[in-house]
Parts: sequence; C-alpha cells; structure tokens
Amino acid sequence: MRVLLTGGAGYIGSHTALTLIGRGHEVVVLDDFSNSSPEAIRRVEELAGVSIPVIEADLADREAARAALAGVEFDSVIHFAGLKAVGESVAEPTRYYRVNIDSTLALLDLMAERGVSRIVFSSSATVYGDPAVSPIDEEQPVGVGLTNPYGWSKFMNEQIIRDAQRARPELEAVLLRYFNPVGAHPSGRIGEDPAGIPNNLMPFIAQVAVGKRERLAVFGDTYPTPDGTGVRDYIHVMDLAEGHVAALEGAVEGVTVYNLGSGTGSSVLEVVRAFEEASGRPIPYDIVEARAGDVATVVADPARANAELDWRTTRTLAEACRDSWSWQSQNPGGYAG
Ligand code: UFG
Repeated sequence: MRVLLTGGAGYIGSHTALTLIGRGHEVVVLDDFSNSSPEAIRRVEELAGVSIPVIEADLADREAARAALAGVEFDSVIHFAGLKAVGESVAEPTRYYRVNIDSTLALLDLMAERGVSRIVFSSSATVYGDPAVSPIDEEQPVGVGLTNPYGWSKFMNEQIIRDAQRARPELEAVLLRYFNPVGAHPSGRIGEDPAGIPNNLMPFIAQVAVGKRERLAVFGDTYPTPDGTGVRDYIHVMDLAEGHVAALEGAVEGVTVYNLGSGTGSSVLEVVRAFEEASGRPIPYDIVEARAGDVATVVADPARANAELDWRTTRTLAEACRDSWSWQSQNPGGYAG
C-alpha cells in the first residue's frame, strides 16, 4: 500500500513509518512540524534506507492541504495529526477543537474527493473516561466523564468518522484506542521529543535520569491501587507501530474499534524502578497532590485486536525503559541535539 501518514513526523507516526516500510509499504508524510521535527523523518529514512516524500502543510487548513496533496498518490491514510497535551487543551479549548476536528473533517472530504477509502485513526483510551471496569474492552461506554477538550476531541472524531462511514459505506475505518505509548526504536535514533516540560510520565523520568530535571513529582499515592499510585497500561511504541500495520492491513468495510494495549498495568512507582534499573541512574521523586482529571487505573483488554488482527504486544516495560533511555541518553536535547 501507499500510505499517507498525517502527523507522520511525530512520536508514533515516525515509528509507524519505519515499521510500514519494513513491511514493504510505501509512505508519504504530511506534517506541519508544529510539534515535530523534519529530523525525525531524516532518521527514519536513514534507518529504513529509503527516501520518504514529505509534504509540509497544516491539514486543518483544508485548501492548503488540498493544494499540497495535489498529484500525491496514496491509497490509504493513517491519521495521527493533532494536538495532544491534556492540560493545554483545558487552557486553549477552541484551538484544540479547531485543530483536531477541522483536520479530520478536511481529511475525510479529501479522501472522498480522491476516492480513498481506508483510514486508521489515532484515538485514545481517554474516550473511556473513568472506566468502571479493568481491564477495559471496546464495548465499555465512551464519552462519559471526560474531563478535557483533548479527550472530547478524540471522542468527537470517532463519531465524525462513524458518520462519514455511514454516508460512504465503502469506507474501511479503524479506530485505534491507544493506552500509554512509551519507549523508542531500539537503535535510539528516533524517540519521543516533547516540547517544553514533558506532561507524560516516561519522558519526564527520562529527563530526570539524564540530568535535565531534578526530581519527578508523583501525582498522588492514595489511589485504590496496590501501592497507591496510578496504574496504566504502558505499550512499547514499536508494538503500537506494529498494531497500526496490522490494523491497516486488516481493515474491512465499516468501522472497527481496537484497544491497543498490553493488558498489563504498572504503577508509577513500578515505572520509576524499571527505569532506574534500565538506566543505572537514580530517579529521585516526591509524592505530591493528585493531578486534576487523573483516574486510578486504566488497563486495556486487547483480546479483540489479538484475535482479529493477530496482533499482540511482545515487548516488556523493561525493554521500553531500556529503549527510552537509549534515545534520551544519545539525544539529550531531542532532535535539536
Ligand atoms: N504521572 C506522575 N508524574 C508525572 C506525570 C505522570 O505521577 O510527572 C502519573 C500520572 O498521574 C498517571 C501516570 O503517571 O498515573 C501516567 O501519566 P501520563 O501523563 O504519562 O499518562 P496519562 O495516563 O495521564 O495520559 C495518557 C495520554 C493521554 C490520554 C490518556 C488516556 O498521555 O493522551 O493517557 O488515558 F488522554
């Protein structure tokens, strides 16, 4: 397949690009580089040994995107592009809705114009809100108790894609609900490069390990979990990338939803210890107030993806810490050096 990756220079997009090429697919990247670097694609090219066409455009600006994609051939799309910082989305809701919704609307119209019918969408476990059960399967209710515009934008985009498919029955849409992506390509050449202070746990820990930040703040230790800290399902980004390839290759007419997670939960303190082990560096931390909007436990039931896509995670949290450390220690300033 020739796959258009919107937001293909980002963390998950770049790892997926490499994995797709390894499976014999061709990729085209569209990115506005608002929160990513062309260097990521340069490194994917280096690792893959092929050159990747890159289109610099803001997908939410549909005229610009249409013009930029004129003459660019693709037969399927993986739609990663969007803003993803939960706290920022609370402070700037209109920007989050505009970017995340307009880009999906523009893409769906463009796909219809071009006769492209296969789309894989980056959704999130955040659509489950504060889930009543653990592990969570895809039949659990979504859109209840969401606490921020980022999460709502994922929920709304899922609905938009469902409605688009109803109007265009030939659409083959796959909604992938990611749990907590971590780690990096084992080469340490590509990885997560957050702008400013990392919001997420593992990149924050990695920056403490490398000496960029002094101490981790652990957000709460009185959750109803074994050690009182929040439990999440951390998934190695290479497993996640393989999940995208499986979803793309296995897409069928209609809308299909898959959880992409390992099925295993780890607490904040377990991640801290795993990272200390992998890096050989101490991670000093303080227990502070719980973060607003956080929930105790979010763990995937990945049985549907296991069965229907013949996909499962094969990498451990220890491997994710090792690869994250390899990336962080080789690239202490991210792609900027
Ligand atoms: N945490 C800390 N200190 C930090 C950062 C995080 O203790 O500095 C804790 C959180 O409280 C949570 C765990 O580490 O218990 C994981 O937090 P992350 O911010 O890494 O991830 P979240 O589970 O909060 O959020 C992730 C994605 C979101 C998505 C959400 C859906 O980053 O995009 O999962 O569940 F919306």
